[in-house]
Amino acid sequence: MQEKNAGGLEKMKCSDQEWVDDVYEKLVVKMKKECARVGTMIPYSPRNGRYQDLDFPGGIYFWTNGFWPGMLWQMYEATGDEAYRKTAEGVEERLEEAISGFEGLHHDVGFMYLLSSVANYRKTGNRDSRRRGLHVANLLAGRYNIAGKYIRAWNESFNGKDDVSGWMIIDCLMNIPLLYWAGREINDPRFEQIAISHAKTAQKYIVREDGSCNHVVIFDAKTGEFVDNPAGQGYERGSSWSRGQSWAVYGFALSYRHTGDESFLNTAKSCAHYCISNMAVNDWLPLVDYRAPEKPVKYDSTAAMITVCGLLELAEHVGEHEKKLYTEAAFRILRACDEKFNNWDPEVDSIVDGGTFFYHDPTGENTEVPIIYGDYYLIEAILRLKGKSLFVW
Ligand code: GLY
Repeated sequence: MQEKNAGGLEKMKCSDQEWVDDVYEKLVVKMKKECARVGTMIPYSPRNGRYQDLDFPGGIYFWTNGFWPGMLWQMYEATGDEAYRKTAEGVEERLEEAISGFEGLHHDVGFMYLLSSVANYRKTGNRDSRRRGLHVANLLAGRYNIAGKYIRAWNESFNGKDDVSGWMIIDCLMNIPLLYWAGREINDPRFEQIAISHAKTAQKYIVREDGSCNHVVIFDAKTGEFVDNPAGQGYERGSSWSRGQSWAVYGFALSYRHTGDESFLNTAKSCAHYCISNMAVNDWLPLVDYRAPEKPVKYDSTAAMITVCGLLELAEHVGEHEKKLYTEAAFRILRACDEKFNNWDPEVDSIVDGGTFFYHDPTGENTEVPIIYGDYYLIEAILRLKGKSLFVW
């Protein structure tokens, strides 16, 4: 992990609101410099404190390519600084290549284009951005498997050998808000029908009764019959990959927001309670998998940041006597992670260290490193707590 810079308020010596105000000030300073340095590059994880452009195997199609423009739109909403808007628009133009190229696209068009084109459209009304958002929403809807009632995730498996036409994954809960948005935008209920149908399938085959989750479910793509629940990015079959858990918390809470279906709210709560209890017994820090051996200890800060955003979303949908549970847990996670992982040096690209892509990582290159979506969800959380965030989901 990178060296942490000193500074900031000491643990628990200030109120949560003072802590948020302090972090916000550091964020404004750091993001201004980072925006000028990174510009319209499409970053993922810095090397020696510097982001590179498209520095990963998926290139222009990589699922994380929307997070940098997402960070820029959030900062534009919060500060009104035109540099963020112009830079985000430049990245969005680059992402047009993936739409026209098409063949490398997958279910993660939600992450890619909600945070770039749809964010632009929501904020500025740009018609080209709306067109891009509607185009990729149609591509996502086209991945729906009618027999199995799921949206197909990937085009290729990790090993490049499996047929993955029958695979759906928990992460897709964060992509289907693209369908809720598109359906409302053009007044076509098919988009919401597909989103709801997929979310119901995830409830049935991915979420377990105790609020823990599988990462993957495999169906027979022809008949729609259940085949298997392999480990995916987690430790083993039956374990609980923490980022998958966080996608479930936030994803089901969002499906509740968009549909009003109470079953989605209850599923989000049950997944949230599972995450909260697992982090509470680990100093409010997220392990990569909540059901892996105690040693080696491996963290994934990105799971923490996503969980926090999910908890803050949940807090908006519950009564006043429940709100405290979710907001207090969110603060504890945020503050514990700030102490351990955050780097506020404006000369270093990225803020949140300690992100891990998957549990089994033989080279260690993707273990406990800064990853762009850790920063995105930190920013979203801090701006939500400041009342300055742009709703993008
Ligand atoms: N959506 C892929 C991941 O969370 O790693």
